Amino acid sequence: MKAINIDDLRRRAQARLPTVVFDYLDGGAEDEITLRANRQAFERLHLQPRILSGGDVDLTTKIFGQSYSTPFLIGPTGLNGLYWPQGDVHLARAADEAGIGFALSTASNTSMEEIARQGSAPQWFQLYPWGKPDFSKALIDRAAAAGYSALMITVDSLVGGKRERDLRHGFSHEIKMSAPILLDGLMHPRWLTSVWLGKHRPRFENLTAFLGEGASDKALADFTRSQRNPNFSWDDVRRIRKQWSGPLLIKGVMCAADALRARDEGVDGVVVSNHGGRQLDGAPATLSALEEIADRLGNGATVLLDGGIRRGSDVVKALALGAQGVLLGRAPLYGLAAGGHVGVARALSILEDEMRRTMIFTGCRRPQELDRRVLVGPEMP
Ligand SMILES: Cc1cc2nc3c(=O)[nH]c(=O)nc-3n(C[C@H](O)[C@H](O)[C@H](O)COP(=O)(O)O)c2cc1C
Repeated sequence: MKAINIDDLRRRAQARLPTVVFDYLDGGAEDEITLRANRQAFERLHLQPRILSGGDVDLTTKIFGQSYSTPFLIGPTGLNGLYWPQGDVHLARAADEAGIGFALSTASNTSMEEIARQGSAPQWFQLYPWGKPDFSKALIDRAAAAGYSALMITVDSLVGGKRERDLRHGFSHEIKMSAPILLDGLMHPRWLTSVWLGKHRPRFENLTAFLGEGASDKALADFTRSQRNPNFSWDDVRRIRKQWSGPLLIKGVMCAADALRARDEGVDGVVVSNHGGRQLDGAPATLSALEEIADRLGNGATVLLDGGIRRGSDVVKALALGAQGVLLGRAPLYGLAAGGHVGVARALSILEDEMRRTMIFTGCRRPQELDRRVLVGPEMP
């Protein structure tokens, strides 16, 4: 039977993946308080039914002048090749087929040049502020040459989150084979033969340019770990602003003061994000940080949100509180792990269908009409 919601896809992903991989995908930092808070914030906020408003629903949304068929896009996630061979390719193609945006992670398992060839519309590149300035400059130049239309710097990961599920499995950017993990892999033979023993075993393909084509998985994972730069600061944002002429976003903004500073530094948009609860545990839900940020930046600012989007109605709620669009993190990844390309397409169509229904129930026909009037319920904390 077809999956009817994102949670169905999640359960299928769990059944198909070894625990070490599922936990990397599904888990958060420390006690996973923020991971849960993201969902709870959506659940606490209710929608105001409005009747008989008539007219067709049109979800078309423009971001940085580019038209998309929905206000949600696939956000950047690393190591997508762990769930399905060439996972990044399937995500990018499914996004393209659905007419939605796609952001590729620095930590992708397919190179940015290869992904750029997959889409008919320009995609976004997410930059981890790793290493010395030459490292990011090289990636920025490659992203521009490959035709990426926007650059998104993720700033909430200057140090790694303490992800305890991963620590228990000894997982840190690579799977280290041990007896329990091997046994787990053997109990998931489809994954083992297609991903682990298949010809597209996941490597950090954007980074092979720095270490050479022949670099081992381990060398690439060690290199990735060694590149974190806790000293990245607004000075670096200013430098990158000069290097990238297209739209520049900062991902990981959680308060109005930082959003205003980003704008003053020439940044074109912010993503209200706590990295899906994978970094600072105890950070508030993104939905509760959104309204003040959107209000203070004012009309015309590009404010996106991610964290906990599992229903089309979540997208409606985020837009009603001031976001122009949202990024999907785990939702399409559950689809990818459950069924490859078809699974990603299914996740996107579930969210689109749910969003359309919600729009009609709330009497809104266009994403741009959504505002606080569609919301009822407890005030956000
Ligand atoms: C498995 C996984 C890998 C991720 N990798 C990245 C990454 O490489 N770059 C990045 O900016 N964010 C990364 N994120 C964070 C997502 O872009 C996004 O902020 C988060 O997943 C949103 O929360 P949600 O998964 O609840 O939708 C990752 C998230 C997950 C779940």
